[in-house]
Amino acid sequence: MAADEPDHRPGEDPLTEPPPVADEPAPRDATPGGRLAGVAPEVGVAKPDPVLVVDGVTRTFGGLTAVDVAHLEFQRGAITGLIGPNGAGKTTLFNLLTGFDRADTGNWTFDGTALNRMASHRVARLGVVRTFQLTKALAKLSVLDNMRLGATGQRGESFFGALFTPWGRQEKQVTERARELLARFKLDAKADDLAGSLSGGQRKLLEMARALMMDPTVVMLDEPMAGVNPALTQSLLGHVRSLRDDGMTVVFVEHDMDVIRDVSDWVVVMAQGSVIAEGPPEALSSNRAVVDAYLGAHHDRALEFDDEGNPVGETAELVAEMEAAEMGTQAAAAEPPAAGKEPRS
Ligand SMILES: Nc1ncnc2c1ncn2[C@@H]1O[C@H](COP(=O)(O)OP(=O)(O)OP(=O)(O)O)[C@@H](O)[C@H]1O
Ligand SMILES: [Mg+2]
Repeated sequence: MAADEPDHRPGEDPLTEPPPVADEPAPRDATPGGRLAGVAPEVGVAKPDPVLVVDGVTRTFGGLTAVDVAHLEFQRGAITGLIGPNGAGKTTLFNLLTGFDRADTGNWTFDGTALNRMASHRVARLGVVRTFQLTKALAKLSVLDNMRLGATGQRGESFFGALFTPWGRQEKQVTERARELLARFKLDAKADDLAGSLSGGQRKLLEMARALMMDPTVVMLDEPMAGVNPALTQSLLGHVRSLRDDGMTVVFVEHDMDVIRDVSDWVVVMAQGSVIAEGPPEALSSNRAVVDAYLGAHHDRALEFDDEGNPVGETAELVAEMEAAEMGTQAAAAEPPAAGKEPRS
């Protein structure tokens, strides 16, 4: 099935603008990295054009503080890499910002609009979306239906109750948009196949394509490369860059530091719920706190895949764990075993 994988290769970044002159405001069309060039690598630093601003956000689970972020700004139009050891609070922060979890304290705004206490589908309609993994339930829908589901801003459980679209368009237009996006991600030939029949890399592309059904301003990707054959990493990264090149703001969680350095305009480092460092990717390796947080707690698992690019062994368990976490354990437990090959303990 590897031969069916999209063969997209990212081209050179079309970065033709010179970097902004330091004592002049950055021009609108300057590159995202260039526009952040004068920003000090300090926790909580103000950005020239923040699209998401987080203030005093905390979330505790029992006695555990999962998130405690004093101040954080995400630059519009940039790719921000969010890193940190396992359990640092990255996914919880994503869940809070996109309305899938409730903060204990704090405020956050999108383009000046307060998002706290807003339901996830409203946050999505405003333009802040996150990807969801292709869960077992979604695997039983066609690729095209997964895309149409994306137009509702809902997760699979709420599919049949969610009939609105972000643009109030008709069914036909939703389907047209879905087909356009499938073509962009080279999945158009798979539109009528069950999503569960896709290879690992194609699933990740579908997750990204589905998020774009909302015409988002901000796209939050939680480990978009996790569980994917390393041979496909460059292709996925090309798509991540293309979101930015289309003017979207991208926030993405990733453990691989080479990937982070390669694709991020700015990097935010979390540990134990808090932001412990932020700065341009070049500043990372010399930051003692980052090195300590990583070498102290994070250990890479060796990822294993079969010939078709499907995760096996511990990697498959990891993917199943991530799926269960996304779906909620009760929903996952209620599912009968899938007809396909997804292993689950
Ligand atoms: N629903 C929950 N109930 C209880 N504890 C939770 C819940 N969700 C997250 N946690 C805890 O909050 C902390 C932060 O978890 P989170 O999943 O946000 O970390 P992460 O940075 O995404 O980690 P990873 O890199 O492993 O994905 C962890 O200690 C985790 O066990
Ligand atoms: Mg996580």
